[in-house]
Amino acid sequence: MRHLINPLDFTVEELDKLFDLASDIEKNPEKYAKKCAGKKIATCFYEPSTRTRLSFETAMLNLGGSVIGFSDAGSSSASKGESVADTIRVISCFADICAMRHPKEGAATVAATHSRIPVINAGDGGHQHPTQTLTDMLTIRSMKGHLSGFTIGLCGDLKFGRTVHSLINALSRYDDIKFIFISPEELRIPDYIIEMLKDKGIPYKEVIKLEDTIGELDLLYMTRVQRERFFNEEDYVRLKDFYILDKAKLSLARKDMLVLHPLPRVNEISVEVDDDPRAAYFKQVQYGVYVRMALILTLLGIE
Ligand code: NCD
Repeated sequence: MRHLINPLDFTVEELDKLFDLASDIEKNPEKYAKKCAGKKIATCFYEPSTRTRLSFETAMLNLGGSVIGFSDAGSSSASKGESVADTIRVISCFADICAMRHPKEGAATVAATHSRIPVINAGDGGHQHPTQTLTDMLTIRSMKGHLSGFTIGLCGDLKFGRTVHSLINALSRYDDIKFIFISPEELRIPDYIIEMLKDKGIPYKEVIKLEDTIGELDLLYMTRVQRERFFNEEDYVRLKDFYILDKAKLSLARKDMLVLHPLPRVNEISVEVDDDPRAAYFKQVQYGVYVRMALILTLLGIE
């Protein structure tokens, strides 16, 4: 039985197959409409979510399956003190596959250890968010045709942003990738990621100003400052509007650069950018459904 806890749980070849399947689902949705008839997904969300949870639920419904779950810890037995290990043992009796989001790093790994069904990490604290990464990669692959040879700028909260950590992990396996980390000093990318890039000889640089580097980028990945992971509100208020991508800044970028964002957006992308052909963040949401459909089929071993 397989789980998806970290994007590296799948080889590059397996990811290619998954993306091919997702693209086929996009083109021929009717072929897949009953593939999961009689199957259930449990979405166990101990942290707020709009996209990720509804995307998993939509994916399963599109495959003809059904959905159970909870959308906040307060309405689950976690509020009575139940452990993740016990919850997943119980969920294993109800559902065929589980997507779990939890504020603690490592929660999905604990769940997988005690589960009888495939567990998908839908975000564990500030650690990883592999299905957002699959979404980001499918978007890039579909809109650019490939996944190698890019200079990618990651901008915003690189310290707590789990989508950033997962995307770097995943893209570091492709050829000719260069990372530019754009963040205030306080929200720099964690050292363990820098060490990984150094070990692999992958080029990167760290800068503070977006304007200084935007012209070099093939891809710009904007992120929200992760308020819920700050220890004090003062720091959050000081940093929350550090970056705002507006038309003026975008005019410095290449004509074919893509702007990605995992969403939710707060202020970091001005709404005036939404109509620019380079804005890909709402398309990402649609690709997220296709890739989650492909993932559910793959983890359930359905042809
Ligand atoms: C992200 C997350 O939850 O980490 N959202 C998402 O799943 N699309 C990004 C965020 O919350 O900022």
